[in-house]
Formats: sequence, C-alpha cells, structure tokens
Amino acid sequence: MSAFEQLLKGWDGEQVAVRYEPDLDTWMFIGVHSTVRGPTGGGTRLRVYSAPEEGLADVLKLSAAMTRKFAVCDVPRGGGKAVLAVPELPTGEARTELLHRFGTFITSLGGLYSCAPDMNTSEYDMDVIAETCPYVFCKTAEKGGSGSTSPATAKGVFHGIEASVRFALDRDLTGVRVLVQGMGSVGALLASYLDEAGADLYVSDVDASRLTLGTPVAPEDVTGFACDVLAPCAVGGVINAVSIDQLRCRIVAGAANNQLAVPSLADRLHERGILFAPDYVINAGGVLHGAGLESLGWSEQQVDERLRGIGDQLLALYADGDGSPVHAADRLVERRLTPSAGPR
Ligand SMILES: NC(=O)c1ccc[n+]([C@@H]2O[C@H](COP(=O)([O-])OP(=O)(O)OC[C@H]3O[C@@H](n4cnc5c(N)ncnc54)[C@H](O)[C@@H]3O)[C@@H](O)[C@H]2O)c1
Repeated sequence: MSAFEQLLKGWDGEQVAVRYEPDLDTWMFIGVHSTVRGPTGGGTRLRVYSAPEEGLADVLKLSAAMTRKFAVCDVPRGGGKAVLAVPELPTGEARTELLHRFGTFITSLGGLYSCAPDMNTSEYDMDVIAETCPYVFCKTAEKGGSGSTSPATAKGVFHGIEASVRFALDRDLTGVRVLVQGMGSVGALLASYLDEAGADLYVSDVDASRLTLGTPVAPEDVTGFACDVLAPCAVGGVINAVSIDQLRCRIVAGAANNQLAVPSLADRLHERGILFAPDYVINAGGVLHGAGLESLGWSEQQVDERLRGIGDQLLALYADGDGSPVHAADRLVERRLTPSAGPR
C-alpha cells in the first residue's frame, strides 16, 4: 500500500482536496475533517517536509484536532486545516504568488473551508490570501480582520495552567516552577503572563535569541527537567514513547497541537500521576478569538470571559474522574457531534 493510501484509509474525516503546483514544486492539502457542526475552519501551515505524505499526515491529524476544538468550545464550525508543503519557505513575490494560488484553491471549495494563520503564516499572509478568496479569518485589523490569534491562545493557556495548578497542587502560581518549551509568538507571551503571576519561570528554545525572560534550559534537557508544570509551546509529539519515562513534572499543559505522539500516552501519563491538560481544550483561545469576533459577534470582553472559561472547562474535565482528562474531553466531543444523543 502506498503511503497516501495508508494515511487516507486510516483517517475518519470527510475529504481532502489536493493540488500540486509544478512550477512552485508545492503540494497544497486542504483537510475537511467534519462538517457535522458547520463549514470547516482552521489554520494554514506553511512548512518544508521531507516528503509530501508528511504534509498529508499533518493535515489529516490537525484537521481532526480542529473538529474536537470547535466542538469543545461549542462553536458552530467543523474541523479543517490546510498544509502548503514547500521546498523552502517563500518570500517576496514567490510568497505572494503562492498565497494567491492558494486563495483560488480555497475559493474553489465554495466555503467548505476557511483559513486562518498557523505555523509560518501570519495575519499579513491572510491579507494576501484574501485578495483571491473570501473565506479568510484573522486578517489584519486594517483589512477588517481580528488579527493574530497568539495573544488569545497564550491567555487561554495561562488560565488553563492556573486552573491545573489549583487542581493538582492546590495553590496559586506564586513560586510554582514552570518550564515553557518554545518562546515563539505564544510561548513568549505565556512566559510574560506567568512571570507577572509570580511563577518560578524556566524557558527553552532552539533559537537562543528568543530566551529573553526566565532561566534558560537546554532543548535536550526539557523532558527530563524537574518542574511542576511543563508547558509545550513548540512542536507536536513532545510526549512520546521515549520522553514519557523521562518526565519529572506534575502537570503537562501548553499550547502545542497534538502533544501526544499517540493517543494511548494519555493513559500512561495518568498512570504516572501526571495531570495532562488536553491540548485541544487548553489551546482553543485562538479559535474563540477568531470565530468569536468575526462570525459570532462577540465583544472583546465576551472573548476574555470565554478565555477565562478555559480554566473552568479544564476543572470540569479533571473532576470527571474517570481516567485521563483526555477521555472526558473526547466524551464531550462525541456528545456534541451527535446532538440527538441527549443533553450536551
Ligand atoms: N499561534 C496560535 O494561536 C496557536 C493556536 C493553537 C496552537 N498553537 C500551537 O502552539 C505552538 C506554538 O505556536 P506559535 O504560534 O508560538 O509558534 P512559533 O513558530 O511562533 O513558535 C515556536 C517556537 O518554538 C521553537 N522551537 C521549535 N522547536 C523547538 C524545540 N525542539 N525545543 C524548543 N523550542 C523549539 C521555535 O524556535 C519557536 O521559537 C505550535 O505547536 C502551534 O501549532 C498555536
């Protein structure tokens, strides 16, 4: 079986649209995982992969996570995601050309998928895509959009960490030892909120120029670092078959998508007594910001209330008590994807 065949046969989503642009040597994938709750939305990831099937694998996994995220937030949208698998990150005119072609690709789906920023794409890129496509969230404020999702994501993760510490350690953040892995647009803001709240802050990044706050920890020492909270804010798969036994933290709670390399690791974390904040619950702040302001008519104040609600939602999942909080979150998603099944 080819890699493409294997990936698509193992996926439970609705459809994937694929386009190859020969002169740009770029694969475009749009994953439409579920339209049960409405037309799909999700970020567009621009990335160099060693093979196109890695990009496809990413779009399948990430679009499924978007379905769960929208359901958990109770936002009437389905899960989608796009991947632009490029030979190198484009700049200047080549970037504009790529984004324009991507805009026409999205438009051809007639609203089934709307894009937003993700890894290596920003609100400025959304402005460019919008020149050929009406289905774009999070353009700049000058172009009538709600701008970057990162501040809202960071604020939601902060509330989630605060709630997780209250639940597992019965204390506030003062003096709590927190390691933020990845000081990018979300991690750096999260670190500043944690610092303001009096946490004992440790930070790590493969780019040393980003270590502007807290005590640096070498990237290779992150998973074995003794701390109260490990906050993965870099890449997915940080909790894997190797790192799971190295962990010396009480809580894993951060912004990265798909932190568990395989879902069964949720049970291993639970058995080890490590509290895991399901990633698609704690990192939903960006979705609440984009969808809330642009399609649900919320005010900034209502968005702030919903971001604080991420902490309350995690506490409710933790209190569910039946195994890992991931199972409680999955049960909630299942109920919301089958509305006829009873109370939500
Ligand atoms: N931006 C959002 O609104 C949002 C929303 C939901 C989820 N996320 C997820 O949160 C994570 C962070 O997002 P971001 O927008 O801050 O990304 P970003 O690209 O701005 O930052 C990522 C940072 O991680 C660093 N990094 C990469 N590999 C590392 C490693 N092995 N060890 C330490 N540092 C490493 C990079 O140098 C960079 O500074 C991503 O996984 C993203 O998918 C982001």
